[in-house]
Amino acid sequence: MAGIIFFKTADLKTIGDFYEHYLGMKLWLDQGKCRIYEHGNLRLGFCAANQADTNGTITFYYSQMQDVDAAYDRFGDIATDSPKLNPHFRIYHFWAKDPEGRNLEFQHFLAPDYDLTQTAKPLTILNADSAKPKLLLTMLLPDQAMQSLEQTFEVKANTQDRQLMKSELLAGIKDAQALLCLLGDTIDAEVMDAAPKLKVISNYAVGYNNIDLEAAKARGIAVCNTPGVLTESTADLTWALIMATARRVVEADDFTREGLFTGWKPQLFLGQDLHDHTLGILGMGRIGQAVARRATGFGMKILYSSRAPKDLPFEAEHVDLKRLLTESDILSLHLPLTPQTQHLIGRDELSLMKANAILINTARGAIVDETELIRHLKEGRIFAAGFDVYEQEPLIPQELLELENVVLLPHIGSASIETRNRMGLMASENAKAILEGYSAPSRVV
Ligand code: DGY
Repeated sequence: MAGIIFFKTADLKTIGDFYEHYLGMKLWLDQGKCRIYEHGNLRLGFCAANQADTNGTITFYYSQMQDVDAAYDRFGDIATDSPKLNPHFRIYHFWAKDPEGRNLEFQHFLAPDYDLTQTAKPLTILNADSAKPKLLLTMLLPDQAMQSLEQTFEVKANTQDRQLMKSELLAGIKDAQALLCLLGDTIDAEVMDAAPKLKVISNYAVGYNNIDLEAAKARGIAVCNTPGVLTESTADLTWALIMATARRVVEADDFTREGLFTGWKPQLFLGQDLHDHTLGILGMGRIGQAVARRATGFGMKILYSSRAPKDLPFEAEHVDLKRLLTESDILSLHLPLTPQTQHLIGRDELSLMKANAILINTARGAIVDETELIRHLKEGRIFAAGFDVYEQEPLIPQELLELENVVLLPHIGSASIETRNRMGLMASENAKAILEGYSAPSRVV
């Protein structure tokens, strides 16, 4: 049984603009004087007439704590407080108001086994030393990188195995001169304004779409990243996905472990060949080139699309996006996420791909329209997909999780011990260079 809560509204259009266009709810029914909007299981009706007069709180429920922070990042301008933990009710939530003054609550219920004592104090100063500049670290890094950080900085670190909540980030960054953050931390103007001494944001990643560059520029805060050191590891993992999807390695492993292997069969787990087939690379930067270089060893033909043709140390043909989509057997994405690349691979692009084609994404999730991808995979319009990144990380649509022709990884492209240490050393050096006034290994802004 589904319920609908009705509210009386003075202005259907303003309310419609707010709930549909701003909050992103779907218009479910328009009856002229009444409109009903839907979000998950929640249905809200707004009526210009007098039959409804309910007032109260509208609660948007999220299954993960980070989603409350993500909602706050999107809807912070209507919020009346910032996200907080309420240990009494065991919820994480913030409040906001709609244009007619109704209370909105964006909320996550903590799991019954959630340890509240951990949440209370995620931040610890690891090496109290007032002579050193203060750095906030949003999650512990591998050992070598930690040693380098502690040599240079007084490090206040999140010692929990979870991302910092926005409220914790805002409180923790107050006295920091440097921030070393992860690609899942949203670093916006609000975070920067909470840190009057902040001089550098050092991202522990090559991608920096999690940072508001304009806001950093306007405040004279440097932004740095870690290109180069993770190229080869990310290319290796891209190949792990290519091999796993083409030859159905994960599905076959599950099958074997389940005791279903009863003998060799001519048609058991038929996949796709790689040799003599075509690898398409979208975005021929460092990682794209490292992936393509490996393909030469497999005897693959290489096509690529990028803004301009490149002088490459291997044979590869520069083609337009349409040819890349129509001719590639494996299409691997190696672009940064920008407003121009968001949903670059959508319905029209997917529909140009071959039925035997495989889409690989180790770049950023939002380059692909996941809803369209799921549809194409379900209808067998493409053969498979191998993904390390997702549109709403760490959320992965249930429908994608249920498909057999996908291999899904938890964003581990650069996750080798050496590389994650190298990234940490570079991020540490970036922050040190900015504070000491010499040229940083990789400064974006
Ligand atoms: C990056 O650096 O941007 C990767 O996605 C994480 O290694």
